[in-house]
Amino acid sequence: MTDFVQQYNLYETQFEKALIKRCAEMNYKPDILTESMRYSLLLGGKRIRPVLFLSTLDSYGYEFRKETDFAIALECVHTYSLIHDDLPAMDNDDLRRGKASSHKAFGEANAILAGDALLSYAFDCLLASCTDLRHIKAAKELSRAAGAEGMIAGQSADLFYAGKEAGEEELSFIYRNKTGKLLAAPIVMAGILADAEVEKLREFGEALGCLFQLTDDLLDVKGDAGVMGKTLGKDAKEDKLTCVKIFGLEQSEKLAEEYAEKCLEILDGLQDNNTAFLKGLTEFVLKRTN
Ligand code: IPE
Ligand code: IPE
Ligand code: MG
Ligand code: MG
Ligand code: MG
Repeated sequence: MTDFVQQYNLYETQFEKALIKRCAEMNYKPDILTESMRYSLLLGGKRIRPVLFLSTLDSYGYEFRKETDFAIALECVHTYSLIHDDLPAMDNDDLRRGKASSHKAFGEANAILAGDALLSYAFDCLLASCTDLRHIKAAKELSRAAGAEGMIAGQSADLFYAGKEAGEEELSFIYRNKTGKLLAAPIVMAGILADAEVEKLREFGEALGCLFQLTDDLLDVKGDAGVMGKTLGKDAKEDKLTCVKIFGLEQSEKLAEEYAEKCLEILDGLQDNNTAFLKGLTEFVLKRTN
């Protein structure tokens, strides 16, 4: 096992323990509400947002084990976004993380409510940990990234441009918002708590976020459905505005490499940061298979 994988596992395990504990404490009525919230949270997934948050804290020598509530909030917002993204009214996907998507397992109305509940729960987790001004500033980052000037704006544009002719500018808007902001948020939030170079970290996070969506679009075309745990070929079927639609497969692969280079350059410009893990993570996102 490489050092990178070992370290990823360390943050992931730390996060997973805290999440399992939180899920065990949930007792919302009727039971189907708790079940549907737990179901999607515990399906797995890469946990890349919590890992980014905990690892960025660690890279500044900050005691990351104290901040698992913020990590849980990040994963709750992400999981809610996936539940709603899969709904028949949006991408209409039956499979998520290798299992039935929420609306397939619990019905459409319950899936909508599970997503709603996870979003509120995320802010409950954040507020419970807001003991000082830095935590409040960090929490505000997540509310911005999740909402109408972040992920929701991106999802709205993703739907709006499906089936339409549009170009690089519109694609960049979709990438930056639907994925980039929620991937940058953990890095920026950690930077705020560790009193680090927040704007440079934001630049890195947004570039990594765009790289992440580029590879998601590429994997939708050439990935392995079993490894990905979701139905592939959906973007072309729905005529979504993706890098592959605009640039083709080969150019998109080149673009992904350029974004990875850009991420590494930004990391080289950081001070006081042990960049080894974030560099490894950039490589991991570029070469990911799920
Ligand atoms: C999928 O996110 C949705 C996108 C933003 C592309 P992930 O690829 O992080 O999904 P999980 O959490 O690992 O399942
Ligand atoms: C979704 O993008 C991004 C979110 C905000 C959830 P996709 O629709 O491409 O994500 P997948 O491919 O379904 O995971
Ligand atoms: Mg979508
Ligand atoms: Mg989707
Ligand atoms: Mg996709």
